[in-house]
Amino acid sequence: MNDSELRSLLSDLSLEEKIGQLTQLPGYFQDAGTITGPAGDMGLTQDDLRLAGSYLSIIGAEKLKKMQTEFMAQHPHHIPLLFMADIINGYRTVFPIPLAQACTFNPELIEESAATAAREAAASGIHVTFSPMADLVRDARWGRVMESAGEDPFLSGQVAAAMVRGYQGSDLNEHGRIASCLKHFAGYGAPEGGRDYNTVELSERTLREDYLPAYQAAVDAGCALVMTSFNTLNRIPSAANEWLLREVLRREMGFDGMIISDWNALQELLAHGIAQDQPEAAFLALRAGVDMDMVSPVYARNLRELVEQGKVPMQWIDESVWRVLTLKNRLGLFEHPFRDADEAAEKTLLLAEENRRMARRCAEQSFVLLRNEENLLPLSGGEAVFIGPYADNALLNGAWSIFADDLDTVSLKAALQRRPQTRNVSVIRGCTLSDPEHPVIGFQHPLPPEDLDAEAALAEAVQAAKAAEKVVLCLGEHRECSGEAASRGDLSLPRCQLRLLDAVAAVNPRIIVVLFTGRPLDIRPLSEKAGSILLCWLPGTEGGEAVLNTLLGENNPGGKLSMSFPYCTGQAPVHYNHLNTGRPWKLGILDGRFGSKYQDIPNDPLYPFGYGLSYTTFACSPVTLSSSCMTRSSSIHASVSVTNTGRRAGTETLQLYIRDLSGSVARPVRELKGFRRIFLAPGESRTVTFTITEEMLRFYTLSMDYASECGDFDVFIGSDSRTDNGARFTLTE
Ligand code: NOJ
Repeated sequence: MNDSELRSLLSDLSLEEKIGQLTQLPGYFQDAGTITGPAGDMGLTQDDLRLAGSYLSIIGAEKLKKMQTEFMAQHPHHIPLLFMADIINGYRTVFPIPLAQACTFNPELIEESAATAAREAAASGIHVTFSPMADLVRDARWGRVMESAGEDPFLSGQVAAAMVRGYQGSDLNEHGRIASCLKHFAGYGAPEGGRDYNTVELSERTLREDYLPAYQAAVDAGCALVMTSFNTLNRIPSAANEWLLREVLRREMGFDGMIISDWNALQELLAHGIAQDQPEAAFLALRAGVDMDMVSPVYARNLRELVEQGKVPMQWIDESVWRVLTLKNRLGLFEHPFRDADEAAEKTLLLAEENRRMARRCAEQSFVLLRNEENLLPLSGGEAVFIGPYADNALLNGAWSIFADDLDTVSLKAALQRRPQTRNVSVIRGCTLSDPEHPVIGFQHPLPPEDLDAEAALAEAVQAAKAAEKVVLCLGEHRECSGEAASRGDLSLPRCQLRLLDAVAAVNPRIIVVLFTGRPLDIRPLSEKAGSILLCWLPGTEGGEAVLNTLLGENNPGGKLSMSFPYCTGQAPVHYNHLNTGRPWKLGILDGRFGSKYQDIPNDPLYPFGYGLSYTTFACSPVTLSSSCMTRSSSIHASVSVTNTGRRAGTETLQLYIRDLSGSVARPVRELKGFRRIFLAPGESRTVTFTITEEMLRFYTLSMDYASECGDFDVFIGSDSRTDNGARFTLTE
């Protein structure tokens, strides 16, 4: 449709039809057919279901085509539905969780992964995904950290933008693309105490400097929708925050797409205590600029009366309906209401070999080698015994892989059995994945207890460990321990797994831990007892294959941490780009009581942001600068030469950090400003050059201008955020 056709459609709609366009309901309301259960409890009528603008979380080409056909036939203006779903790290082929994808430091690969997910989802009839989540996270207790790109604003922005490009391509109407909904605007990743949905208090400077850039990167990449966050931001829930949505998001950040609330968030304005009743909630949200109400009765039940009473101007309604219709039009739904939904394509495309290959590549690049004493890894073949609850377990998809089937996932045991050299290795469970006294709560219910004779399992593991040359211990957190509403107050591994570790370590010190998790954990016991630790996150459908390729050295791990691993839970939140304080404390430098430190633990995380080893080694030359001075209109080149000094080919990711030594407000001790992945053969050297521009030196100054200030800067280039390989330059007018 052209714009004037769309305008005339809008002006033709009745008020009920318009309000319908602003309402999104869950697929199971339609399945029910009649108004009972939750739809009834919400006070919705058959008309609300008949006129809704969108349904979420239903999949399948056949089903969605039928639903679309029936819906359009009965709709007074035959307006097609938008189908949305959470395609977070893959649809049927599951990729590593986003936090792991960020460890690849490879935006191109992330883009391709998102494009693969989009093709699969589009074939099943999906039009919009609720991804990327660009919420910056510094606290590993927050369960949704798995869905983020970690603690760094720059890396988070690169990841979010890559995902948007991958889902949407250059035109939403392209075959195999879906629209991307950026979430959760804003600050959802900073809840007090790491508890999901909790209060967020951020100064405007911190919000703008650290939290907004990743969202901005996704907006700049053209995301079609934005979802508001559940939390209050400085006491105002995002779904009612006019300043945040209209002033910051739309006017300053330049977002002109559709804004949707998060699930039931408009109803929750009552619990937040800023709306007395539903009509007030509807008024506040529409005034703030929320176009579509996700799964609450607030718009559907109240907007009509508010318009009739003259409390809500028709113009607000029309603006929001216009955005919904525009999105439908951009997706080509008026001409092709089924879009790419195609039963035949579903059969050939979902879990296609090339999609699995892509998932494998992505998983392999996301693995982070945290330790490798005495080169315990790689294995030379079948010399190790595999022990632990993840050794034979297909629960390798992240918590959001709601449309995938675990039966499609390759476990480590399955991968071992596929290869002649590992076919006969012993695989022993050793203990349960979770402690019986801490039942894991799934989305709805506690999961059934695992069935195992704990003593016999431990004895069997010890016996096998004693006899083996090396032990591969496959440990970690249950996937349901991270994700939405899965915050934790203790980041330790389950007690039963620590007991297994102790028992095995007592008989065989040659331990390689393969760690599966959705978040950084307190892994001090692993660092003490295991010679090698390979962090594999929740690697997805091809997890087992990717892990085995890596253990055997067919893949040389090169991932770098997208988030620090805290020393212990009490250290969270911890992040590398902190301020210096007036009393910075470094062992041996400022000793005594009055430094900024803990009495019982170090300040530094156990493994810092950007950290990751390889089966080979790299040497990096000192930083050379093209000049030690730059002006606002010039730039400086900072270079290092990096050499593969080991015996295997491998990838190193060089990271550029900058520190502003003095400003009108306190500046972080360093900030990531660029990175480069380079693949080097043994003995090979390459010069890597970063261009430093004035733009990279900007921040929110005392007067809240986004500007640079003249003075000295340190530039560091190295293999992680702790590098002290640096040089100094001065910015002058
Ligand atoms: C709630 C979550 O916060 C959001 O991220 C998700 O996209 C929606 N539910 C829809 O499932």
